[in-house]
Amino acid sequence: MRQALVAGNWKMHGSRSSVDELLKALLGGSLPSQVEVAVCPTYVHLAQALALCAGTSVAVGAQDCSHMQAGAFTGEVAPAMLVDQGCDWVILGHSERRQYHAESDDLVSAKLAAAVEAGLSPIVCVGETREQREAGEAEAVVGAQLQGALSGHASLAGLVVAYEPVWAIGTGLTASPEQAQEMHAFIRGQLAGIGEIEADATRILYGGSVKPGNAAELFAKDDIDGALVGGAALVAQDFLAIINAAA
Ligand code: PGA
Repeated sequence: MRQALVAGNWKMHGSRSSVDELLKALLGGSLPSQVEVAVCPTYVHLAQALALCAGTSVAVGAQDCSHMQAGAFTGEVAPAMLVDQGCDWVILGHSERRQYHAESDDLVSAKLAAAVEAGLSPIVCVGETREQREAGEAEAVVGAQLQGALSGHASLAGLVVAYEPVWAIGTGLTASPEQAQEMHAFIRGQLAGIGEIEADATRILYGGSVKPGNAAELFAKDDIDGALVGGAALVAQDFLAIINAAA
C-alpha cells in the first residue's frame, strides 16, 4: 500500500506576505492524516516556510539542488544545506529546469546521487513534449529519462517519480486519467527493471494542471499515487481540495 503524496511546486512565486498567508490557510485547513503533504517554495522562502510548518504534518522541500555538497559553485545550493535547514524533499529534473537550464539526464542523475547522499527524498520529474507524444515517442522519451537519471545508483532511498507531460504543465490541458494511468503503469514497469528500486513501493505522482475538479479521477487510477501541483498549490483552498481528493 503506497501512501498518497501531494506536493506543491510553487515555482518562482511568492513574497513574505503571500507565503505567510498561504501557509497559514493551508495549516488551518483540514489535512487528512493518510496523505503526505509537502510544499516546495523558492530557496529564499524556505526558512520562512520551515518555521511556519515546524511541528505540523506539512513537510518542506526545494525545487532543485546542486550536484555538489560544497565548493566554488556560485549561485548553487547544496543538498546538505537543504537538510541542514530542515528540508525533507527536493524536486529534480523538472521540465522547466531541463528546458531553461539545459539540464541533462546525466546532471539529474548526479543531483539525485547528491540529494540521496545528503538524506533528501527526491521527486524526479519525467515527461514528454506535445511533439514527442504526437510522434508516438512518449514512452521512448520517458523510458530514456528514467534510465538516464535512475540507473546505476547504489541507493535510491525515498525515491518518488513524477510524470509531468510537458504539454499539460501550466496549460490547463490535463492528461486524461486513462492516458496518465497508461504512462504510470509503463513507468512502474521501467522502474522494476532498474536495480535498487522497489517498483511496487515507489510512488509515482502525476503533474500537469492538476486541479480540484480533476484530482479525484486521476487519484482513482491504480498507479497514480498523488500529485505534483503547480498553479493550484498557490491557492490554499484548491491545494486543500486536491489533498483531500487523495485521502
Ligand atoms: P501546473 O504545474 O500544475 O501549474 O501545471 C505542475 C508542475 O510543473 O509541477
